[in-house]
Amino acid sequence: MQSNIESLYGSHRPLPRGPVLDWSSFRHIDVPNVHSVENLKYKVLTTSGRAAIYQALLQLDLPAYSSVLIPTYHCPTMVAPVLLANLNVAYFGLLPTGLPNLGAIEESTVQKCKVMLVPHYFGLGKSLKEVREWCDKRGIALIEDCAHCYFGQAGERAVGEWGDFATASLSKFFPLPEAGLLASARRLIRPIVSDKPPLKAQVKGCVDVIELASRYQRFVGIRIFLTSFFKLKNIRSQKSEVSKVSEVIKKPEATEMMRDCDMTRIDQSPLWAAIALKNILPRGRIILQRQINFASYASYFFNILGAKPLFPISAGSVTSAAPYVFPLWVDDPDSIYQSLRALNLPVFRWDRIWPNTTVFPGDTGALWSHHVLQLLCHQDLSTADIDRTAQAVLHLLQIQQMKPHTVNT
Ligand SMILES: Cc1ncc(COP(=O)(O)O)c(C=O)c1O
Repeated sequence: MQSNIESLYGSHRPLPRGPVLDWSSFRHIDVPNVHSVENLKYKVLTTSGRAAIYQALLQLDLPAYSSVLIPTYHCPTMVAPVLLANLNVAYFGLLPTGLPNLGAIEESTVQKCKVMLVPHYFGLGKSLKEVREWCDKRGIALIEDCAHCYFGQAGERAVGEWGDFATASLSKFFPLPEAGLLASARRLIRPIVSDKPPLKAQVKGCVDVIELASRYQRFVGIRIFLTSFFKLKNIRSQKSEVSKVSEVIKKPEATEMMRDCDMTRIDQSPLWAAIALKNILPRGRIILQRQINFASYASYFFNILGAKPLFPISAGSVTSAAPYVFPLWVDDPDSIYQSLRALNLPVFRWDRIWPNTTVFPGDTGALWSHHVLQLLCHQDLSTADIDRTAQAVLHLLQIQQMKPHTVNT
């Protein structure tokens, strides 16, 4: 059955997991009135979202051994910067809205915490009014994690305006080799001491952007030239890759996770290619195409068996947002997720949480780590790409419905 699905949905060209530079990236489309973290008063570019979290923690000058509150539903790159800043991690659970379950945070935890990191999951901004008040009452600084939410409104305020600091990940929204943003609506940001990347890294940054575009068959007109150029270039690097395989050594899980988070460039300045592209690329198409792709997914997952949109979808759900993913709750997700990964479709699940993350009874965060599939909806996935991914999910769900029922624990 798997190979049947593969022939239907998996054998075509691979789909990109992030934005890819193309002629269309430079097209101007007018999309008025969508806020962005980049409009905050104080801001500085970093190499990544994780670097922005790290730099935010340094700006806060925290007492030694203080703890940072992190959600149980996280990606490892939200935890790694805390540990690298020599701070401790404490966890909080989530409500079904994705907001922190403030009432369940124990007083003993509050006492040792000086910062709380709160993300706007999936690019769907939410009001952090209550969170802001809770933090203010307890003298806890708020870092608003906008890695998924570069654009949009978060309830009564624009994204990024709730936090003492806001952090963002530009490579999730723009076709850049890397880049993040540390910003604040009201706190001056002290200059960041950062090393300049060497010339070789600068050149590599430019080449990487074009190479990715070539891999996904972009830039009609010069595509053949690019394909031949990168074929030649990679003959050499493929040889050295083979000799590296045997060097991989199994490490304890937390160490391995820290290594996978690749924190090596957190105190460097971003590459020229990232800065230049960030400055010149228009925003309108990024916002509009994401809204279109999100709506497309919504139309597929309305009223089906075995899965549902994580949040109720209405006509205005994303009019003031540029979603990062379409979050889909799947009742029995394991085999479906494995198949989608095997088909190389642009779908994630945050099932790799940091070792020893606290388990709270009935916590939504833990449920989401298991049940929520994040279907990417970035601007460089076409309507056909979204259709292909959605149809593969529906097909897998159908197969599952046809099988004799198994109890999932
Ligand atoms: C919510 C959230 N915060 C922070 C990050 C880190 O961003 P970056 O990959 O740019 O370091 C990520 C990355 O996936 C994320 O999902």
